[in-house]
Amino acid sequence: MARITAGVGSSHVPAIGAALDRGRTHQPEWRPIFAGYEWSQRWIAAERPDVIILVYNDHASAFSLDFVPTFAIGCADSFAPADEGWGPRQVPEVIGHPELAWHIAQSVILEEFDLTLMDRMDVDHGLTVPLSLMFGQPTAWPVRVIPLAVNVIQYPAPTANRCYRLGEAIARAVATFPEDLNVQVWGTGGMSHQLAGSRAGLINREFDTLFLDRLSEAPDALRVMPHEEYIREAGSEGMELIMWLTMRGALGPRVRELYRFYHVPASNTAVGHVVLVPEETGERSVTDDAVPRSAAA
Ligand code: DHB
Ligand code: FE
Repeated sequence: MARITAGVGSSHVPAIGAALDRGRTHQPEWRPIFAGYEWSQRWIAAERPDVIILVYNDHASAFSLDFVPTFAIGCADSFAPADEGWGPRQVPEVIGHPELAWHIAQSVILEEFDLTLMDRMDVDHGLTVPLSLMFGQPTAWPVRVIPLAVNVIQYPAPTANRCYRLGEAIARAVATFPEDLNVQVWGTGGMSHQLAGSRAGLINREFDTLFLDRLSEAPDALRVMPHEEYIREAGSEGMELIMWLTMRGALGPRVRELYRFYHVPASNTAVGHVVLVPEETGERSVTDDAVPRSAAA
């Protein structure tokens, strides 16, 4: 059977991709950031995941405001890098896992959890920058990737709790996929940052630290936080942090934090990164509020 073995949280700042692609990793402002991922690069080389379910948001690269899916799952064979600003990154094409993607879609949609099915989708820095941070600059990515795009751009966005519950539903789906696959779930975006307006440049280290503590130990407190609180504490784009809760929801009630990294600044944002593993509890790890109440009674 397929199994979720770990979760990774990571910022996806586009300037990090540009620094890497332009050979600037050793410049003083970038060196600490890439150093902060060296442990994780060694860890993931040993873990050798088969598939990453990569939760990220599109930044007007694949979707315009003409259509805005709340959740979109990439079911294609492959996904081309795209990007705004610096242009498409010269990174390998992203190879999907259509069989597992369709299985997840089937499972969660029949649990009444709607996803938009994407047979073609270009993927921007939200997805490719975390891949680069974790795997460096290979000629081909050493893993298959199922992109899962979440709308955190156009209101109304999904709640933090819905993101978490999507992670739980994904875990149920993965657990019923018959192939023996080592699957990781990644959540990207954040940490505190605001790109425009009177609070542009906002960084809130205290909130970011609290978020990382609670992500492992008390995720329920993050699930019930309204968008307004994420935005007030972490900035308008800091709301991307709700995507980390999908990763967390997929890991079950208890996790162990293997690694944490936090650094200010990258571009004008705070960079955060964690590696979490599920703690074996013996019991099935997810709540099942997708079961119709009459059936559950
Ligand atoms: C920037 C853009 C992002 O999407 C993000 O998550 C962080 C920073 C930026 O433009 O600097
Ligand atoms: Fe972003």
